[in-house]
Amino acid sequence: MTQQTLVLIKPDGLKKSLTGNILTRLSETKLDIVAAKIIKVSRELAERHYILLKDKPFFNELLKYLMGEYHKKKVMALVYWGEDAINRVRAICGSTNPEEADPVSIRGAYGRITTKGIYENAMHASTNEQEAEREIKLWFNPDEIIAELYPTKTVKEQVERRVWA
Ligand code: TYD
Repeated sequence: MTQQTLVLIKPDGLKKSLTGNILTRLSETKLDIVAAKIIKVSRELAERHYILLKDKPFFNELLKYLMGEYHKKKVMALVYWGEDAINRVRAICGSTNPEEADPVSIRGAYGRITTKGIYENAMHASTNEQEAEREIKLWFNPDEIIAELYPTKTVKEQVERRVWA
């Protein structure tokens, strides 16, 4: 089944110069990258991304981690598309807990648990189709993705926006 999935290279991955290594590992999936960008993550975006974990005791620390307060204030977001994309990316990504993850997976190789108990696991990958849709729509506008993944509509807006001077 053809699917799409959201990948984030988290601030620890960027700080440790792991972008190239992680993208090289993900190329083993033979999936297509259909969107990519670097983002400074706001609290609102971090909260919405991890909304399902809002009652966890580590939620606030998790937000700070995703916002880059402990590393660099940026995240690389990508959409991978192709056959069985969600499971193929999750398999190379490895388990949530980096100490339990397969040592040759990305999280097993590059992740760690901080003294505050946060799993710094270098990357995020969507867990199922419903979450992938919610997350891709949260991180990307339709025009930032070169494939037609979900239905769109056109709206007329008069908004001020910044252009090159
Ligand atoms: P979760 O969505 O459960 O896992 P995954 O990222 O594998 O889909 O958790 C989101 C992030 O929260 C996870 O990548 C790391 C962090 N986390 C902790 O810091 N401690 C924990 O006990 C758990 C379960 C997650």
